Amino acid sequence: MTLVPERRAWRPEAIVGDFVVLRRHRGENLKAFMRWYSDPEVARLTRYQVGPLTTEEIQRFFHGRIMGSDFLAMAIHVRDTDRLIGTCAFSQLDGDNGSALYHITIGERDAWNHGYGSEATALMVAHAFTHLALHRVALTVFEFNARAIRAYEKCGFTVEGRARGAVFRDGRFWDEIHMSILAEEWEARQKPG
Ligand SMILES: CC(C)(COP(=O)(O)OP(=O)(O)OC[C@H]1O[C@@H](n2cnc3c(N)ncnc32)[C@H](O)[C@@H]1OP(=O)(O)O)[C@@H](O)C(=O)NCCC(=O)NCCS
Repeated sequence: MTLVPERRAWRPEAIVGDFVVLRRHRGENLKAFMRWYSDPEVARLTRYQVGPLTTEEIQRFFHGRIMGSDFLAMAIHVRDTDRLIGTCAFSQLDGDNGSALYHITIGERDAWNHGYGSEATALMVAHAFTHLALHRVALTVFEFNARAIRAYEKCGFTVEGRARGAVFRDGRFWDEIHMSILAEEWEARQKPG
């Protein structure tokens, strides 16, 4: 009986921000995933492999990961219009060490640079340190993805290391940057002043 409220707190129906609302994914969101993950620019920014996912891979990713229980994935909607623009998630949720790995893709390119990614990330990080009681949220990002790095820095992530030359893109090797935020750093940012 107590499982239901606990699960609801872990994966709420909605997390509401000023500009975005994070909602549980629904089966019909697969259509948008098909569009987002077929986009070569989204693939360039997010994938180690060259080129986008195949249709079958997107279906497997959506049903296995996004709708599955290993990922805590939430859909990103613009608050004013409820338009679905992307997805964000925690993977590798590790209860023993209180940590998780964060991922975000705003798939609708015209929704980039409006502050939506930063706010979605801030909401997920707040969720991690309050309802999930995590101690650490980590992520990786390619060195050339300046927009993402800036968005993560705005949310309090700091660079903790880099895997040098880990990704070959646009004719050269780039580092994979490792960033993280710890609970105490997040709490210090909540204090006024
Ligand atoms: C990365 C992503 C989540 C960021 O979300 P967003 O809503 O586009 O970004 P925001 O508007 O919240 O913040 C972007 C910041 O980067 C800045 N920025 C944008 N392009 C930049 C560039 N080329 N160089 C430096 N900063 C840049 C913006 O000015 C803004 O900073 P500011 O508020 O200080 O002005 C989103 O763009 C996205 O999903 N992109 C495609 C997939 C992807 O890259 N995922 C991340 C993989 S690790």
